[in-house]
Amino acid sequence: MLATAMALPDEYERQQRWRRYGDALKQVPLVRGQRVLDLGCGVGAASALFAAAGADVIGVDVDDALLLRARELHAELRFEKHDVGALDASTFGRVDGIWASFVAAYFSDLPSFVARLRELLVDGGWVALVEIDDLLGHEPRSAAFAADIAGFYAWARAQGGYGFLHGRALAPALRDAGFELVHEGTLEDGELSFRGPASADVVEAWRSRFTRMGGMRTYYGDRFGEVSGEILAALQAPSHRSLCRVDIVVARR
Ligand SMILES: C[S@@+](CC[C@H](N)C(=O)[O-])C[C@H]1O[C@@H](n2cnc3c(N)ncnc32)[C@H](O)[C@@H]1O
Repeated sequence: MLATAMALPDEYERQQRWRRYGDALKQVPLVRGQRVLDLGCGVGAASALFAAAGADVIGVDVDDALLLRARELHAELRFEKHDVGALDASTFGRVDGIWASFVAAYFSDLPSFVARLRELLVDGGWVALVEIDDLLGHEPRSAAFAADIAGFYAWARAQGGYGFLHGRALAPALRDAGFELVHEGTLEDGELSFRGPASADVVEAWRSRFTRMGGMRTYYGDRFGEVSGEILAALQAPSHRSLCRVDIVVARR
């Protein structure tokens, strides 16, 4: 039986315990006083880290409930409602840096997304993109189940939906858009990319995540419970190992 979803702001706030944005920040060529956009800021956790490191940061998101929570949690920071897909240099002027964690996958046309970011940056400005690769890839599993999941990813891509394999596509997209790569790596993540059996709170977060995955429900239909149950079983297995990665790429314009 799948869990009832938590409210999204609660969910995103809880997720922060598993993220490693502090490690990511060490790879970002931030200079105190720089103007930075946190695109798709959610509840503002990364915005707060950047502000603490001396950035003049603006968090941007389209979701009212998330923006409300971000403002409650970080009243001293600036958060604005915009569709990242509609931003241009006239919105905030060109900025020194852009952070976007777990946002690129919402843009099926990654080259266009990256080209838009380039237009928002000053010459020499930096962009740091964090994205999942192979969200549902968790062992133990059979080869047939792996192929089944790959079929779902391909279907989602063909629909112009969530980019389940965008992590691996970040660096080529940035390079093709004329950025100079500064850092390519992966981040540890206690919910998405780890070894060993998931703790009870991580399992609960995954159950809740599945309730939000409408595309997956559409694709699998009657098999949705079985497929999500198999992934939950893999996550809880003593021999669990994530194939899912959290990729980070930092580049300069
Ligand atoms: C998976 S969450 C990641 C939130 C946050 N960056 C983090 O790392 O916790 C994706 C965020 O992107 C936002 N988002 C998705 N599409 C967007 C768009 N077109 N414009 C602005 N924000 C968007 C969502 O509202 C959500 O807050």
